[in-house]
Amino acid sequence: MKLLVLGSGGREHALAWKLHESQKMDELYCAPGNAGIAQEAECCPVDLSNSKALVELAKALHADLTIVGPEAPLVAGIVDDFEREGLGIIGPSKSAARLEGSKIFAKEFMRRHTIPTARFEVAEKYEDAVKALARFSLPVVLKADGLAAGKGVRIARDPMEAAQALEDLMLHRTLGSAGERVVIEECLRGEETSFIVLTDGRGILPLVPTQDHKALLDGDQGPNTGGMGAYSDDSLLSESQYDDIIRSIVAPTLAGMEMEGTRYRGFLYFGLMMTPSGPMLLEYNVRLGDPEAQPILMRLRSDLADLLVTMRDGQLASVDAHWSPNPAVCVVLASKGYPGTSEIGKPITGYEAVEALGGVKIFHAGTRVQDHHLLTSGGRVMGITATAEDLPAAIQRAYAGVSKLQFEGMHYRKDIGAKALQKAPTVTPTRRARSPRGERPVSGK
Ligand code: AMP
Ligand code: GLY
Repeated sequence: MKLLVLGSGGREHALAWKLHESQKMDELYCAPGNAGIAQEAECCPVDLSNSKALVELAKALHADLTIVGPEAPLVAGIVDDFEREGLGIIGPSKSAARLEGSKIFAKEFMRRHTIPTARFEVAEKYEDAVKALARFSLPVVLKADGLAAGKGVRIARDPMEAAQALEDLMLHRTLGSAGERVVIEECLRGEETSFIVLTDGRGILPLVPTQDHKALLDGDQGPNTGGMGAYSDDSLLSESQYDDIIRSIVAPTLAGMEMEGTRYRGFLYFGLMMTPSGPMLLEYNVRLGDPEAQPILMRLRSDLADLLVTMRDGQLASVDAHWSPNPAVCVVLASKGYPGTSEIGKPITGYEAVEALGGVKIFHAGTRVQDHHLLTSGGRVMGITATAEDLPAAIQRAYAGVSKLQFEGMHYRKDIGAKALQKAPTVTPTRRARSPRGERPVSGK
């Protein structure tokens, strides 16, 4: 098969890496890609905002299947554009992608289908938002309705901060039209889990659970980012939490979409808060998470292209995926300035030594090659991803990789996975004798 991956981040590098080892793969392309992806696939310099050019590219390459990494092309309707031309593509339609494209749509959808989520109000005008604020206790969560590249959510701890956030969004339009309308919601407490499934609308293939580290600094301090690291381990969810998530959140979402005439197909990411009264849904993302995809795909033992073809053919209910029982950890290295304006163009050294360690893979994000030198070219530069027989060993291996790398201004969190270790300092995570679908035993293959 000829496969085309769209995107240029660590998630897309992990996708390309996994697809590269597929038995089904004959030719692998990526648009636009990065320096790491170029080692797995032929990169094509086409802009992701140019849907017409991407359609032409897929036609020219005779791509059998295109896999979309980021949300922006999905929300803009790339799947509809490809399907109109009879081209195979993995992802939700424009209409289904509103689950991520509009937080108001998502929250009202959750309410319509009684999916557990934080209490909320929608405000279209600044004055209404200020009045609504008074009906929430502090801290309170303020969300821009539209896409904001991870910058659309503010948790305000005092009235001044809340008023300032609303002013920024609605009066100063710091996020442009994304902040024209806002969601004001109750702040939930608990541990976050990213639960991602692949679905053809009916069959559900849950991927192994992950935990992202969104805040910039250790101890979950500082501003939110796209994600500074993630780990995946079966011990993240108990058997009953897992069943509860499928029953009360995943299944009603897919049934609700079908009922509303927008069957959901593709990867669907459920951002969850595990509260004392059960899992609550914070948000949907209509794609794989980044960096969550890196540890997830490192644990996947099944042929990814096979799974995607099965999904495209609507046969997902009949398959299972095989996973490594071993946890995986991804530590993101970021440029000086990230998540604000980042300093780029810095030479990266030490990468040759990392993969020599074994069990560690560098997934590139903001990198490019110039005159045979590897340079930084974005805020998140790379994700050092490692797997080992237990979480402490995987964490240690990932940080051993990190210690070999250098570029000017490099910074990273030093506590990825640490919360899990605090819960069970030396215990090997429980390996439940069942697959992530909850049906058959893990094959170990
Ligand atoms: P979202 O873009 O909706 O995922 O929000 C980004 C991050 O904001 C989440 O990963 C949480 O850390 C935080 N967040 C969003 N909604 C809430 C909420 N209702 N209560 C507490 N934290 C939240
Ligand atoms: N890491 C969070 C996201 O991909 O949205």
